[in-house]
Amino acid sequence: TTERTLSIIKPNAVAKNAIGAILGRFEAAGLHVVAARMLHLSREQASAFYAIHQGKPFFEELVGFMTSGPVMVQVLEGDDAVAKNRDIMGATNPANAAPGTIRADFADSFTENAAHGSDAPETAEIEIAFFFPEGVCPRTR
Ligand code: CMP
Repeated sequence: TTERTLSIIKPNAVAKNAIGAILGRFEAAGLHVVAARMLHLSREQASAFYAIHQGKPFFEELVGFMTSGPVMVQVLEGDDAVAKNRDIMGATNPANAAPGTIRADFADSFTENAAHGSDAPETAEIEIAFFFPEGVCPRTR
C-alpha cells in the first residue's frame, strides 16, 4: 500500500555534503520526494519534534545536535514507505546498522546518526503535519 513517511537528513550528513547521495538512495528504492524543506531548527522546534524523548538521558545532546546546523526535511511516498525508509537508513544505533545503509555510511554516533525516519504510519502523519502544516500536494504520475 502507498504510504508517506517523514525523513530528516540530520546536520552531520548535511555538513558532509551528502544530501544528494541520501536522496538518491531513496529514489533508487522507488520512494518519491513529494515535499521538502531545508531549515535550521530552533531549540523549541527540536524539543517539540522530539517531545516523546523529553526527560531521557540523551535528550539534551539530541536537541543540541539537531540545532547545530541546517537539516533537510522531506516527505517520501511509495509502497510501504515507512518500513522501506527504515530499511534504507539501517538501525538507529549505527553500531548495529547493516553495511550499505545510510547510517552505516554517514553516521558518526548514536546521536549523530545521519537520518531520521518515522517509526509507524500514525507517527508519520503527525511528523509530516509538524513540518508541512499547509499539507502536501498529491504526486503527479
Ligand atoms: P531518531 O530516529 O532521530 O529518533 C530519536 C533519536 O535520538 C535517534 O534517532 C538517535 O539519534 C537518538 N537516540 C535514541 N536513543 C538514543 C540513545 N540511547 N543514546 C543516544 N541517542 C539516542
